[in-house]
Amino acid sequence: MIYLDNAAGSHPKPPQVAAALAAALEEFGANPGRGNYALTRRTAGMVAETRAKLAALVHAPDPSRMVFTAGATMAANMAINGLLREGDHVVCSSLEHNAVFRPLAVLADAGRIRLHIVQADSAGYLRAEDVAAALTPATRLIAINHASNVCGSVQPLAEIGAVAAACHVPLLVDAAQSAGLLPLDIQRMHISLLVLAGHKALYGPAGIGALYVDSSVSLRPLLQGGTGSRSELRHQPPDLPERLEAGSLNTAGIAAWSAALDFVRSTGIDALQAHAMRLTDRLAAALQAHPRLRLQLLPGETRPRVPLLSVATPERDPAEVAAALDARGVCVRAGYHCAPLAHRTLGSFGEGTLRFSPGWFNTEEEIDAAAAALLASI
Ligand SMILES: Cc1ncc(COP(=O)(O)O)c(C=O)c1O
Repeated sequence: MIYLDNAAGSHPKPPQVAAALAAALEEFGANPGRGNYALTRRTAGMVAETRAKLAALVHAPDPSRMVFTAGATMAANMAINGLLREGDHVVCSSLEHNAVFRPLAVLADAGRIRLHIVQADSAGYLRAEDVAAALTPATRLIAINHASNVCGSVQPLAEIGAVAAACHVPLLVDAAQSAGLLPLDIQRMHISLLVLAGHKALYGPAGIGALYVDSSVSLRPLLQGGTGSRSELRHQPPDLPERLEAGSLNTAGIAAWSAALDFVRSTGIDALQAHAMRLTDRLAAALQAHPRLRLQLLPGETRPRVPLLSVATPERDPAEVAAALDARGVCVRAGYHCAPLAHRTLGSFGEGTLRFSPGWFNTEEEIDAAAAALLASI
C-alpha cells in the first residue's frame, strides 16, 4: 500500500507512538486530578508534561492555557462559540476548513454575527492588507487557516498577527495542517487562539487535539461537567485548563501524542517539512505537463506551502480516479476535503480534486509509483 493521505491523518505512526498508546492503558489507567494516590498523580504528571511539550512547540508562554480537546474541530468550536457574542463582526479567509467555517456560518445564518470572508487569490494566498481592510470597530475575531488543506498555501501569519495586534482583535489560527511542519510562535505571531490536531503532521492518534487560549481572551465553556478540582462550585472553575476540560481526558491519546511530540522534536520540523516537500515537488514535476490533469500549483510558485498537492481531473470524476488508484494500492483523498470555500477560491468547485499528501514515511519510489498509477487511471 502507498499511503498518500497524511493531510487527513498521518499513517503509519512512528512505532514509539503505537507503543506509548498500548503502554498507557497499563501505566496511566487512573483518572488524572480525580484522586490523590500514586497512579492518578503519575497520570496527571504525564498530562502536564504533554501540555508543556505542546506549549514549547508553539512558544506558548503558559502550558496551563493549553487545553486538550478531541481534535481541531472541537477546539475551533470551543473557541468560536466560547468567544463570540450577539452582534460581533468576524473576519475569516476563503480557505477555511468546515471545522472553522461551519460554526461561523451557523452563527451568521442565525443573524447572531456578521461574517466577512476575505478572498484569497486563485493560488490560495491571502494578503494581510485585505484582512486589515475588512476590519470594522465591531470585529471581535479574525480566523485564519494557516495552511490550506486543499492546496497547501501558507498564509503570512506574522503579518496578519501584526494587523490583529494593532487593532486589538483576537486572532484564531487553525494550525491543523501546519503544526509539525512549520514554525509557530504564539507570541511573535500574536495568536490569541491556536487550534491543533494531533493526528496529522504531529503524528499522534486521531481523537486528540488542543486549543491554546491566550491570557488576553476569556472563553465561555462549551461543556460543563466534572473537572477533578473545585467540585464544590456550581459552575466550571475559573482557571485553565480545568475551566475548558470538563469530563475525563483521553489519557491514552495524550500519552501517545506525547511520544509523537518527542518524535517530531527529535526529527525536527525542518526535516519533516523538507522531506515531504521534496516528495510533493517530485510528484508535481511528474504530473505537471499532463493534458488530462490540472495541478493546483502554479509552475514556479515560490510562496510558502505545506506538502500536499491537489489535482483536478476535468475528464473524470476524482472519486472514480481515487477508486482506481485504490485498486492499484494508492490511498489518496478525492472531493472537497471539508473545505468547499477553498474550492470556490481555487476554481475546483463542482468536481473537487484528488489530494496527494506525502509524509515522513513515504519514499521517492512510492511517489514515482503513485504518479505512474495516476497516469494509468485517468
Ligand atoms: C485545516 C483543518 N482544520 C481542521 C481540521 C479538523 O481536524 P480534526 O479532524 O482534528 O477535527 C482539519 C482536518 O481535516 C483540517 O485540515
